[in-house]
Amino acid sequence: GVAHALHKRRCLCSKLAMSQVVVRDPDVLERKKASIRDVGPGKLQVIADFDGTLTKYWCNGVRGQTSHSLLQQGNAEYDAKRQALYEYYHPLEISPTIPIEEKTKLMEEWWEKTHGLLIEGGLTYDAIKKSVADASITFRDGVIQLFEFLEEKDIPVVIFSAGLADIIEEVFRQKLHRSFKNIKIVSNRMQFDESGRLVAFKGKTIHVFNKNEHAIDMAAPIHDKFGSSDSPDVNGTFVKDRTNIVLLGDGLGDLGMSDGVSFEHRIAVGFLNSNIEKSLKDYSEAFDIVFLNDAPMWGVVDLVSELC
Ligand code: TMP
Repeated sequence: GVAHALHKRRCLCSKLAMSQVVVRDPDVLERKKASIRDVGPGKLQVIADFDGTLTKYWCNGVRGQTSHSLLQQGNAEYDAKRQALYEYYHPLEISPTIPIEEKTKLMEEWWEKTHGLLIEGGLTYDAIKKSVADASITFRDGVIQLFEFLEEKDIPVVIFSAGLADIIEEVFRQKLHRSFKNIKIVSNRMQFDESGRLVAFKGKTIHVFNKNEHAIDMAAPIHDKFGSSDSPDVNGTFVKDRTNIVLLGDGLGDLGMSDGVSFEHRIAVGFLNSNIEKSLKDYSEAFDIVFLNDAPMWGVVDLVSELC
């Protein structure tokens, strides 16, 4: 029946994914897997980036959008202002010559200005819903099965994003039609007034250079739908004792997401979405497993199944 068809499809997709995967040192990977398996799922957590990692880089033939880029404020002047900031600051974000301390200051500046424009331009929750409905954004195949598997095994997933939590949650609602009790989204959270207008951002700003487990403590409380803030496992304690990590990212900087955890074993999985020839060497040295060509998530589903 359906289960069999799904299984067949997964096997086929896993085989396809095989041809798009690079593992620099299979022995090291096997040793890490064995060590993680030995201590069991109670010590495991998954840390994932959102844009370009859980979501596809290409979506129906066009570049997949991010939580920032999909947002249409319903106010053309302010959309243009945010775009202008992107054009100024994004080259600085990826510049190979600016030192990290200086970049951090620039990123704080960028995030502050963008968040300010969202408030000033009168963003509403309805505009978020409409933006997500109109967006080119889609989860990789197998993401829902990955989350379901991890939920069943009580393995927490922390999604770190320097984007916008409220938009990510709306993407979950519209594309997956559900939330997961084992998933925490650590990202920038908005505060709306009774009429649904954005009035402020909660907690400390999370930008590209501080999105890691240090940020869990300073981030705003987790949204109701994704775990009530009364629950004992909220924020740091949710993952504090879990010293084995599967990390999923699409940029070399995503490896920093596990900063703040003194982990024992970490399997880092990278999705190399662009500049493949130029970046493959760096990626395969930094990540234990590299998936190419906008691969589905089935390879990660297989990996975590092997760990539990
Ligand atoms: P992340 O998705 O890897 O967590 O990073 C967020 C990305 O969002 C980062 O590459 C910069 C980008 N960004 C925008 O596109 N527009 C913005 O207004 C801001 C502040 C960031």
